[in-house]
Amino acid sequence: MKIGILTGGGDCPGINAVVRGAVRTAIQKGYKVIGLRDGWKGLVNKDHVNLDLSSVAGILIKGGTILGTSRTNPYKIEGAVEKCKKNFKRLDLDALIAIGGEDTLGVANKLNKEGLNVVGVPKTIDNDLSATDFTFGFDTSVNIVTEAIDRIQTTAESHHRILVVEVMGRHAGWITLYAGIAGAADVILIPEFPFDINEVVDILKKSRKSGKKHGIVAVAEGATFKDRSMVIQKEELDSFGHVRLGGIGGILSGKIEEMTGFETRLVVLGHLQRGGSPTAADRVLGTRFGVGAVELIENKKFGRMVSLNGNNIVDVPLEKAVGKLKTVSEELYNTAKIFFG
Ligand code: F6P
Repeated sequence: MKIGILTGGGDCPGINAVVRGAVRTAIQKGYKVIGLRDGWKGLVNKDHVNLDLSSVAGILIKGGTILGTSRTNPYKIEGAVEKCKKNFKRLDLDALIAIGGEDTLGVANKLNKEGLNVVGVPKTIDNDLSATDFTFGFDTSVNIVTEAIDRIQTTAESHHRILVVEVMGRHAGWITLYAGIAGAADVILIPEFPFDINEVVDILKKSRKSGKKHGIVAVAEGATFKDRSMVIQKEELDSFGHVRLGGIGGILSGKIEEMTGFETRLVVLGHLQRGGSPTAADRVLGTRFGVGAVELIENKKFGRMVSLNGNNIVDVPLEKAVGKLKTVSEELYNTAKIFFG
């Protein structure tokens, strides 16, 4: 048995745990493993590297991905899908593990339907993939953002300022919500619930009146004002049709200062939220997913993805994972709102 592994889309802490988990499980079963470099680009260009025990030694604690990544979409490049199919054969692969978010797994799903033996592993800091309770990378990101908010709290308090913290997560508010609750933010704004600036200003004013002279507003990059469209950094779409989000924090902090008269500053956390060593929880989840992916292959369960259900690793059709985004529920947001102000 020969297995290929690739990692596509935005990198995320815990990917190397999956690669290590899969390689070590596969080798114990007597299988050969290769890594395809830079996501689907590696399969299109037959760019690969052998993976053995020494290749995965010491990588558990490392962030990023030892295989490299890209947002290459073979379905958007002429002849690339055919190349994927040919190279799968030329490399003598029996199966492929695709580690990625909705885009990478969307391609995995299509290629599987075209006859390639592919299984998926859900990966994203955004935690927005359906059919799994959590993705690895999310916990690390939440911890990074929480630590940032903790640090911001002390300087905001000293200067009696409002600090707006812009957080990643695309069209889902998971990271902002979790880190906002954990960091005791005064207001949490997420894409699922467009906000009214007057309400935000009211909360901050009331809070100041009651004696608290500083405030933290955690805003997701995909959050929107009730009466405006999404704020984007770059209109141009990537190969999966995504715009680059970002900029809401700047507009919001300007408005808050103008409408409250309180000195306001902005922190955009950016790619800090995706870098560095994974938390213990993400190392464990990534490891379990890596082992689970090889077991899927062993059982010939192609076209499926490993998934976390409660505390169990189960498998679901890839189709189910890429169908629609998993977003924050009203119930969860209402819990956060209790602590506003
Ligand atoms: O999907 C992960 C993510 O970090 C999003 O939260 C963010 O919007 C996007 O990727 C940023 O992408 P890039 O790394 O291409 O700037």
